[in-house]
Amino acid sequence: MFGRRSWAKAAVAAVAAATMMLSACGGREATETDPGGEATAGGFETGSLIGVSLPQKTSENWVLAESLFNDGLTEAGYEADVQFANSGASEQQNQIQSMITKGAKVIIVGAVDGSQLGAQVQQAKDAGITVIAYDRLLLNTAAVDYYVAFDPYKVGELQGQALLDGLAERKGEAPYNIELIAGSPDDANTANFFNGAMSVLQPKIDDGTLEIPSGQVAMDQVATQGWKAENVQRRMDTILSGNYSGDTTLDGVLSPNDTLARAALTSAASAGADTPVVTGQDSEVESVKSILAGEQYMTIYKDTRELVNQSIAMVDALQTGAEPEINDTESYDNGAKVVPAYNLEPVVVTEANAREVYADDPILQSELG
Ligand code: BGC
Repeated sequence: MFGRRSWAKAAVAAVAAATMMLSACGGREATETDPGGEATAGGFETGSLIGVSLPQKTSENWVLAESLFNDGLTEAGYEADVQFANSGASEQQNQIQSMITKGAKVIIVGAVDGSQLGAQVQQAKDAGITVIAYDRLLLNTAAVDYYVAFDPYKVGELQGQALLDGLAERKGEAPYNIELIAGSPDDANTANFFNGAMSVLQPKIDDGTLEIPSGQVAMDQVATQGWKAENVQRRMDTILSGNYSGDTTLDGVLSPNDTLARAALTSAASAGADTPVVTGQDSEVESVKSILAGEQYMTIYKDTRELVNQSIAMVDALQTGAEPEINDTESYDNGAKVVPAYNLEPVVVTEANAREVYADDPILQSELG
């Protein structure tokens, strides 16, 4: 049920339809032997434009990526065009379109909605532009060239295991009452975070170690539109008042990231509940402080500097006409192709190892003192 890396459900149909549309309107792909198209394998001039299209600022890592991309690309000698799609998928479509028109050589995309950019990335491909999916995979399109990420399914597995560890550590003997939260349904990572976690939790639900008093387990019940904290707070307030009283106490919450973890903690506190064991992701400053204060149980460290540096290393390789370094050619079937990837290792952080894990992180170090 919670199979490994299930991205694209309607993928095959969508790809077939896209291919038909493309041949109907005479779409043309650039190839190395086709002088009409510009070959991505041939390299490009230093100083070329590199586009970076980021989603909304739904967590600190995206904000950090903006400045790291601006600085890193500029230092490496490129012209950087880094933008946020603050109002959503259609803004991002227009943004990518305009990066193509401006002559970008590479476009790096952190998609608001991984399944809404097929036409734009195909146009980029047709113009000889290399497309790199950043953190979130682009779905149902063969026009994406590479993916750079901290494996989202692995992140989910780590969160699921940490929730079990935290419950055993802080909440005595099983059974435990937990609630489940997932991310925004349009984010290609959401199902993978959730399925990764459920691959660990489901056997413990089945054997009675875990109970879910609200009964909410389906994606349409647990998803959080737009990754918004207020949506989690509202949902958790309702769950707590409707399902928890007397001996039924909330022991744990599976939360996919730090912003939503803090919302769940706020909701539990305002209901007067004891602090539940809550998972997170991103190592946001407020959550790291909360972990060190013994509140939020864990987070995941996905060092944004590594993600950005690896993306820029890909751009550097492409600039010289070389093949970028990849370390995974199997895991990321986006429904149209298996996307070659550079996979980075997510790290579990709890109160026990936080100072050690963040020892080289200048922002977290200065915050933590
Ligand atoms: C990222 C997470 C982030 C979330 C909300 C996901 O796609 O992988 O790191 O917390 O988006 O911004």
